[in-house]
Amino acid sequence: MSEKRSIPKHVAIIMDGNGRWAKQRGKERYEGHIAGAKAVDAVVRAAGVAGIEYLTLYTFSTENWGRPQAEIDAIMELFCSMVASKADELVAEGVNVKIMGERNRFSQKVLDMINHIETVTAPGKRLNLILAFNYSSRREMVLALQDIARRVKEGEVKIEDIDEALFSDSLMTAGVPDPDLIIRTSGEYRLSNFLLWQASYSEMYFPEVLWPDFGEEDFQRALNIYASRERRYGLVTKDKEER
Ligand code: IPE
Ligand code: IPE
Ligand code: MG
Repeated sequence: MSEKRSIPKHVAIIMDGNGRWAKQRGKERYEGHIAGAKAVDAVVRAAGVAGIEYLTLYTFSTENWGRPQAEIDAIMELFCSMVASKADELVAEGVNVKIMGERNRFSQKVLDMINHIETVTAPGKRLNLILAFNYSSRREMVLALQDIARRVKEGEVKIEDIDEALFSDSLMTAGVPDPDLIIRTSGEYRLSNFLLWQASYSEMYFPEVLWPDFGEEDFQRALNIYASRERRYGLVTKDKEER
C-alpha cells in the first residue's frame, strides 16, 4: 500500500454507559464508574502507542451535578483515587494531563488533586490527556464571549477583529487542535454539550459497546474506521490520478 494511513491528531471520547453496565450486572451505578476508570487506563495506553497527540475524555459534564449526590461523591472520590494511584505511571509514560472545566464547584480535595496531577505531569511530551471535568460547551462559549467583551471594553480588541481564530483562542481548548475523531460509546447518538464549536468538521463514531467494556481493540477499530473516512471540509473529492 502506497498511501500513508491517516492517524488522528486529536481523539475526543464521550465515555458513556457506566450506569447501564452496572445495572446489567445488578450493581450500583458507582461500580460502573469504577469499571469505567479501568477502561480509561487501557485507552490512554493505546492512544500513546498509536501516536495520538491529544486525547480528550468527557469525564463529568456541568449537567452531571444534577445526579444523586451519592453518585457525584463517588465520581469525585474515584477521580482523586485515580490521580493518586496513576500519577507516577502517567509521568513515566510522558503523559501531560490538563483538566478542562470550571473549577468553582470542586471541593478543596479535588482542587488539590487537579493541581497535583497537572504539576507533576507538566513535562510530559508524548501524549496530551485532557479531562473535561465540570465541562459544558455552551458554558465554555459564554465564558469566551464574556472574555472577548471585556477585552473590547478595555480597548484591547476591536469588534471588527473578532474572528473565528480569536473566538477559538478564547475557549478552554485554546491551542489544542480541533478533534479529528469523536467517539461516543453506549449507542447514544448525541454530543451532550461536548465540544460543539470544535466538532464542526470532526468525524463521528458511535460504537454500541458500553464504556467499561471499551478496550484497546475497540480503540484500534475506531482508528481504522477513521482512516477509511474521507474528510472533504465542504470541498470536492480530488481525483486520485491528479494527486
Ligand atoms: C458516563 O456513564 C459517565 C458519566 C456521565 C460520569 P453514565 O453514568 O452516563 O452511564 P449511563 O448512560 O447511565 O449508562
Ligand atoms: C455525557 O453523558 C457526559 C459524560 C460522558 C461525562 P451523559 O450520560 O451525561 O449524557 P446524556 O444525559 O445521555 O445526554
Ligand atoms: Mg450516560
